[in-house]
Amino acid sequence: MREQVAMGDASTAQSSRPDEAVLLRQFEARIARGQKIEPGDWMPEEYRRQLIRMISQHAHSEIVGMLPEGEWITRAPNLRRKMILLAKVQDEGGHGQYLYHAAETLGVTREEMIDGLLSGRAKYSSIFNYPSLTWADMGTIGWFVDGAAILNQTMLAKCSYGPYARAMVRICAEESFHMKQGKEMILLMSQGTPAQRAMVQDAIDRWWQPTLMMFGPHDKDSPNTPTLARWGIKTKTNDELRQTFVNQVAPEVLAIGFTLPDPHLHRDEASGNWVYGPIDWDEFWRVVGGDGPCNRQRLAVRRKAHEDGRWVRAALQAYAERQAQS
Ligand code: 3HC
Repeated sequence: MREQVAMGDASTAQSSRPDEAVLLRQFEARIARGQKIEPGDWMPEEYRRQLIRMISQHAHSEIVGMLPEGEWITRAPNLRRKMILLAKVQDEGGHGQYLYHAAETLGVTREEMIDGLLSGRAKYSSIFNYPSLTWADMGTIGWFVDGAAILNQTMLAKCSYGPYARAMVRICAEESFHMKQGKEMILLMSQGTPAQRAMVQDAIDRWWQPTLMMFGPHDKDSPNTPTLARWGIKTKTNDELRQTFVNQVAPEVLAIGFTLPDPHLHRDEASGNWVYGPIDWDEFWRVVGGDGPCNRQRLAVRRKAHEDGRWVRAALQAYAERQAQS
């Protein structure tokens, strides 16, 4: 039974309404018990704000993330690869819809979120502001970017907010396919011609650091992590997930004869971790701030798509109004 605040007239509600401190204690006790917070439950405004920020930006990332790979659907080397890439890009669009719906359960409207993206106010993952230059990028994005997303989203599948956690279950299953198809592509190309191997190495060199940036700034520079960790939205920190990713992928890349663009990278026998070199946070913040290689292009495509879809939204609105009147 959810501790719903007793409804009734203002005076009754006021007198019977436990004070915020009691509500907060009940809220935090529920999270501590591993119970999910659901849309109708009382929650601190900061919890709601953080979730709207995070989930809407996650949704934007999925939608903008369709663009680098979408550019290669018409250039896939064969029908099988075209079908796989089509399915993946379509999945990402669906992930965006799940996540916009999850954010809407917190009281934000789709229009507000889309306006935030198209106006440039809202963020989306910086990784999608890099260009996809060759076919090997498709494999590298699948292996690295979706591989990183799986680690992050598997964590979020345990998050304290019910709709977000449940959206992750379906998304993680599809991301697993995304990562495996990318890895398979790279393994195939690694056994190909010298030109194909060179194409893969070039892609690895370009996508490695931007992928490490996907996990966010170092924990000491992550202003949101303390609140997100306190209320069970994040159950692992940015650096913990990043380290797990490097430990998982670095040895795999080296094992198939490629190098990573990090002269400091080495395995620390004592901890078992792969120690990586400094990340260029100046580049990170420049790209997050809108000055990455493709930021303007990505927003221009989304703005045009939104404009081109205006008549569809108007038609749906007119139909809904006519249905409501009949
Ligand atoms: N790109 C853009 N902005 C980033 C970023 C990145 N890679 N990493 C951090 N930031 C921003 C944060 O949004 C925050 O800005 P804000 O307060 O204005 O929103 C600021 O940098 C400080 O970072 P924090 O570490 O304090 O922020 P968080 O605690 O929110 O951590 C995060 C950042 C790890 C991205 C976290 O928000 C998160 O886990 N989000 C949900 C997952 C997500 O959005 N993934 C994006 C990729 S989706 C994807 O990969 C699709 C797949 O199909 C390929």
